[in-house]
Amino acid sequence: MSCVAGYRREPPGTHPEYLTPEYRSTLLRAPDRPLVPLSHSLSEVTGPIYGHERVGPLDHDLTRRHDGEPLGERIVVTGFVRDGDGRPVRDSLVEIWQCNAAGRYVHAADRHPAPLDPNFTGAGRCVTDAEGRYRFVTIKPGAYPWGNHENAWRPAHIHFSLFGPAFATRLVTQMYFPGDPLFAHDPIFRSVREPAARERLVARLDMDLTEPEWALGYRWDVVLRGRDATPVEA
Ligand SMILES: [Fe+2]
Repeated sequence: MSCVAGYRREPPGTHPEYLTPEYRSTLLRAPDRPLVPLSHSLSEVTGPIYGHERVGPLDHDLTRRHDGEPLGERIVVTGFVRDGDGRPVRDSLVEIWQCNAAGRYVHAADRHPAPLDPNFTGAGRCVTDAEGRYRFVTIKPGAYPWGNHENAWRPAHIHFSLFGPAFATRLVTQMYFPGDPLFAHDPIFRSVREPAARERLVARLDMDLTEPEWALGYRWDVVLRGRDATPVEA
C-alpha cells in the first residue's frame, strides 16, 4: 500500500520511552530489538470510525448510570481534540475509565481494600462535536496503591482513549489533576521526560466551566499528532 499517504509520525521525545525501569512492568513488555517502521495501510488511514450510532445520550455522564448518585466530588471534564495542525477532530469517539472516589476500580484484579460504590461503574464515552469538543460529567477519582514498589500510589487520573479519524491516530493516555502531591513519586507520570510534554497531561481548573452549586470544571485539551502532541501512557 505504498500509495497511501499516512498520518504524521511523532517527533522523538513526544512520548515516554518504552523501557522506563522505575515503572516495573515496562521491563517485561518493552521491545528489546529495534522497531521496524511499517507504512500505514489503507484501512488504518481511512477508518473505521467507531461509536456514532451506539453512543447514548447519557453515556457521557458517569454520575447517572445507576439508581442513585455516586459518592465523591462531582466534576465536569471537557476540552477540544485537535490534530497536529490545529484542526478540530470532529465526530470522533472518546472513551474514559477511572476508579471511584475511594480509589477502587470495578475490576476483579483490583484488591485495594477500599469500598466499591454501587452507584459508580467508572466508564463513559462521547463523540466530539463539530468543533472537536468532548464533555464528561463524573466524580474526581481517588489515589490508589499499585504495587510497583514499596508504598507506591498513583496520583488521581482518568484514563482516556481517543481514536481520532482512524486507527493510526488512536491515543490511549491518562489525564491528571493540577497540583497533585503524588506527581513527584509516580514513575508513570515521570516516564514522560520532557517537562512541557508532562504538563500537557494535567488538566486545569477552569472557573468558567465550573457550575455554581453543582460541580467543579476542568479543562483538558488533546492534540493527537505533531509537536504539541499529548503523550501516550508509558
Ligand atoms: Fe488507573
